[in-house]
Amino acid sequence: MENATLTTTEFAEEVRRGLSSSPKYLQSKYLYDQKGSEIFEAIMRMDEYYLTDCELEIFSEQKNTICRDFISDAGEFEIIELGAGDGLKTKILLKALLHQGMDFRYIPIDISHQAIMQLQQQLASELPQLKIEGLTGDYFHLISGLNGSKPKIALFLGSNIGNFTYGQSVNFLQQVRKVLNEGDKLLIGFDLKKDPEIILKAYNDPQGLTAAFNLNLLTRINEELEADFNTANFVHKEKYDQNSGAAKSFLVSKKEQAVRLEKLDMSISFAENETIFVEISQKYDEQMISEHATEAGFRIIKNYYDHRKWFVNSLWGL
Ligand code: AVJ
Repeated sequence: MENATLTTTEFAEEVRRGLSSSPKYLQSKYLYDQKGSEIFEAIMRMDEYYLTDCELEIFSEQKNTICRDFISDAGEFEIIELGAGDGLKTKILLKALLHQGMDFRYIPIDISHQAIMQLQQQLASELPQLKIEGLTGDYFHLISGLNGSKPKIALFLGSNIGNFTYGQSVNFLQQVRKVLNEGDKLLIGFDLKKDPEIILKAYNDPQGLTAAFNLNLLTRINEELEADFNTANFVHKEKYDQNSGAAKSFLVSKKEQAVRLEKLDMSISFAENETIFVEISQKYDEQMISEHATEAGFRIIKNYYDHRKWFVNSLWGL
């Protein structure tokens, strides 16, 4: 179990910093409390959120090739997934690997303890032959704690990388690079630049799930930091800049208002239309992807695309 006091303090201090900044922001990693993780899983199942379908297609159609490309020599290896969530897509690869008789251990890591517990339970019943060891926490910390001499395949799927700004993502991949050894690999999902309308619909769905996902962060702050955000006074707003490829989500204050955060002993005022920046979902082109690989010290082994070329899973080696 995590140290709840320490975690709360870190959350509190990050919220204090973000809401005292100009412009205001909140870190997207805090969207994934239990409720937020549930909403995100519902987002992944909506038609508008094409990313899931693309990656499912890539894995379903090309699983045998991908799994063959994973292995350089026989013997036990480790599959380490960063931000595993419900493992829906990964399961396709795990099944194919088991089917091919590969000897491996699956190590899913997620910041949501709940998500990891559910995944472990579910996989234990669905794939009883699977060796699984789930880890909970911030994967920035956990990844540096990984060691051992078994060959590793790291998975970073679903365009999770897109939650980092350019500088952050290069830095993150350099950290991944540091805990890997020669012969290890990284399979990473990138959402590609495409018709802005398609992207905006994925992050501004008519059912309002994405809005609920972002507003839930205010509810989390209310609960954990004794705040009095009225979520009815904020709306979700998505912007996409097709040149940079940055899709950004904001919570916009509908009116001038003040919010009290008791645990932080702090009051925050909002002007009408003032924004809180919540999340970036970066979209990439091939040049950006190869720049990332090069800057982080990897070489691209192979790219796997869906039939529309909306998404790519890129296999990198050292
Ligand atoms: C989990 C980061 C891949 O940015 O597409 C989905 C999160 N936010 N809808 C994304 C998210 C709103 C998602 N990632």
